[in-house]
Amino acid sequence: MPKSKTVYVCQNCGAEASKWVGKCHSCGKWNTYVEEIIQRNSKTSGLKFSETSSNPVSISEITSTSEKRIDIKSAELNRILGGGLVPGSLVLLGGEPGIGKSTLALQLALNLNDLKILYISGEESYQQIKLRANRLNLGNDNCFVLSEILIENIFVHIQNISPDIIIIDSVQTLQTEEIESSPGSVSQVRECASRLLKFSKKTSIPVILIGHITKDGSLAGPKILEHIVDTVLLFEGDHNYVYRILRVIKNRFGPTSEIGIFEMQNSGLKEITNPSQILISADTENMSGVSIAATMDGIRPFLIEVQALVSSAVYGMPQRSTTGFDIRRLNMLLAVLEKKAGFRLATKDVFLNIAGGIKVNDPAIDLSVICAILSSSFDKPINKKICFAGEVGLSGEIRPVNRIEQRIKEADKQGFQKILISNNNISPGFKSKIEITKVKKIENAIKYLFK
Ligand code: TYD
Ligand code: MG
Repeated sequence: MPKSKTVYVCQNCGAEASKWVGKCHSCGKWNTYVEEIIQRNSKTSGLKFSETSSNPVSISEITSTSEKRIDIKSAELNRILGGGLVPGSLVLLGGEPGIGKSTLALQLALNLNDLKILYISGEESYQQIKLRANRLNLGNDNCFVLSEILIENIFVHIQNISPDIIIIDSVQTLQTEEIESSPGSVSQVRECASRLLKFSKKTSIPVILIGHITKDGSLAGPKILEHIVDTVLLFEGDHNYVYRILRVIKNRFGPTSEIGIFEMQNSGLKEITNPSQILISADTENMSGVSIAATMDGIRPFLIEVQALVSSAVYGMPQRSTTGFDIRRLNMLLAVLEKKAGFRLATKDVFLNIAGGIKVNDPAIDLSVICAILSSSFDKPINKKICFAGEVGLSGEIRPVNRIEQRIKEADKQGFQKILISNNNISPGFKSKIEITKVKKIENAIKYLFK
């Protein structure tokens, strides 16, 4: 096969050069040049239609395929994707190394035993994949495994096997003969992904691509892929904990605020359908420094335990440390407590922990954070049947939060008896079994809880 013509393009300003250069002559940025194909075939120039060209069609004549989703036999994954996998879609499953992407993908492949799956791995050998399948305790005669990285060869195998779903682990290992750069480089990743995109659109076979993201998101790959693929799923979580969150970042065929929660067990990933149940420990009754927040991630409400420890600072500078919560926000809340509620927390160390290693960005847990801190500071436990949902403003006011009705319903479902919310949060007609206590300022909440 003749080599294609390539050119080096600055990823910052788009300037071109025939050879790689360190510094862009146009924008002055360093290390921004990457190799890109400019012509695949020198003969196809001029106004000629390519094989893949299609004709304009009236939109009313196009038959909708919305009902034809593929059930992938996992309630969480089906829901996240908006009701199943869309035929002909290209899905990117991204995440840090070791988070469980290969496990999730293989588990999916092995569970779908009425469909023909081709699982292509450029990272693991046949034996390693078999070992993983043994660990998952799953088998599927319809799941074919291929250890290959060359995209041209992969297409030959796809033609021979004609699978219903293709899984590729990972896009960073793919390589095309047409570009000389090494696998994982921007041009290789982009070229391979766009060929897979064309393939999936033409054949209606869905392709699931796995992509790595480093801690700082620096590895070129998934980031540039995001605009090529139809759906981007991000698998995240703390390596020290067993809980993993699968988040939808982009979805051309479904909602984007869905999340799925999984637990990494010894034999694979288990779906967690009731996260509130596991994120609240049962044995913290009568313990000070514990409060329960009614939080939301995307559109999913759940209850989570917030733990605080306040102790006297033995060294000059008081320590503040958080897990799963923004430390700057904690400092802000402490400043509000100091100013508005008269607490001298400057002489105290404050440690804050969100249960399960889950990161919460929802401002509605502010009230719960403040109550946990005060509970630890007073050494008075908060009744475990009370939960909280409210943002705390700079002047100590409790501010309304979004989707309060969903939060209240979830708290009710989990058997809570009271929920503390902002005094102007709830719509007048809303009815619920759970007792709703409205608080205007943190002073009111303190009075209510600790007398
Ligand atoms: P893996 O799927 O290989 O991660 P990725 O493909 O995202 O790099 O999973 C890595 C971790 O998961 C590894 O530390 C081992 C652990 N694991 C389990 O705890 N249970 C299991 O059943 C499997 C297969 C893996
Ligand atoms: Mg892997």
